[in-house]
Amino acid sequence: MMDDDPIELAEGVWWVGARLADDTFQCHAYFIDNGLNSVLIDPGSPLTIESTLAKIASIADPESIKYLVVHHSDPDIAAALPYLSDTLMRSDVVVVTEWRAMALLKHYKHRFEYYLAEEHDWTIPLSAGRALQLQFTPYLHFPGAMVSYDTRSQIVFSSDLFGGFVPDSTILISHDLDYVLDNARPFHQHYMPSTQLLAAGLGRIQKRWPTIRLIAPQHGHVVAGEIVNAAFEGLKGIDCGVFTLADADLDLRRLLRISEAKARITEALLTIAEPATLVAAINAILAGTHEARECALYVDLPGDGWTMWGQEFSKPISRPPDPAWPLVDLPGNPAAVLAIHTQDDTHPDEDLMRMLHDMSPTMRPARWFCQPPGRASRGRYCAGRRAHRPPHRAGQPARARSTTPHW
Ligand SMILES: [Fe+2]
Ligand SMILES: [Fe+2]
Repeated sequence: MMDDDPIELAEGVWWVGARLADDTFQCHAYFIDNGLNSVLIDPGSPLTIESTLAKIASIADPESIKYLVVHHSDPDIAAALPYLSDTLMRSDVVVVTEWRAMALLKHYKHRFEYYLAEEHDWTIPLSAGRALQLQFTPYLHFPGAMVSYDTRSQIVFSSDLFGGFVPDSTILISHDLDYVLDNARPFHQHYMPSTQLLAAGLGRIQKRWPTIRLIAPQHGHVVAGEIVNAAFEGLKGIDCGVFTLADADLDLRRLLRISEAKARITEALLTIAEPATLVAAINAILAGTHEARECALYVDLPGDGWTMWGQEFSKPISRPPDPAWPLVDLPGNPAAVLAIHTQDDTHPDEDLMRMLHDMSPTMRPARWFCQPPGRASRGRYCAGRRAHRPPHRAGQPARARSTTPHW
């Protein structure tokens, strides 16, 4: 339960955040009581710093603080620096950060010297045998972002990683994996730039610190030890960076559907070599987005002319693309297009079409249509094997005909 008292997470390691009324975005600060080399982690802002210092004063002398760890330069972490600059009297207090954050932190106009993590082997020595280790987590969500780990308590101070919007700010430590992930998911979807970067950063943390007793983030919930590993794995699967898909509007749920379709099409392209199978797969994927009804693939085959693979036909048929359908050009030779039908024959979602256009160079592996005669194998089309068929004359009305698939 969060109240006006500090909460001890491990011996000498305290939560000293300030609870903001009517705010789902709670900000946590942490204090490591380490004598004259004590540490304040992610100090906070003018909204929280007085409450944080009052909590510290109930544990130890605030003048024991030597290190102000600023995991990145956001105002919810660092806007308290001018206040601390005026309030703390010690002359040797340092701001621990990374150079890219330092470049911004000076704009807060504080008096502290810097202790750059990269110049100190990513470590702050504390008492004998104890250190606060720092780990670079680039682009999560700041280019020079980092997290830290107390070697004695084995707590990771994860800054914005594992952060979340919380429906109940009275809960600090959570033992409920689903609850933690449900609250962390929208925060990461909005603030973290990509799933790949997120998974890479989390993997670095796990590799460096195989034993983690607690995860103490700057927002959301402290993650209890028994769900730490599952929380790492759950967080790695969160779909981030979807705003790169946005042009039409910023509806996150719609973008997540498009992002999922993109991931599944990419996966399908790795294993599918046949046009018919690909069309079936893309149709199934697009149906799940609720943005498109069906798609068909048209290829202008040498000697045969436009040939269509669609989900309503068990075999490819001779048919040119219907100009009434929105088309995605699949660049290359022979000409090929993907035609998209919408649920109600309106124009498909702009962002969905843009995603398909972006993916189009990968949607026609060269092996589909470029196998030299005599080297075709089942499952791959060889134009040379169809050369004996009568050519499809330009301008001739499209006619459905039975075409034997050549795979
Ligand atoms: Fe941040
Ligand atoms: Fe933050």
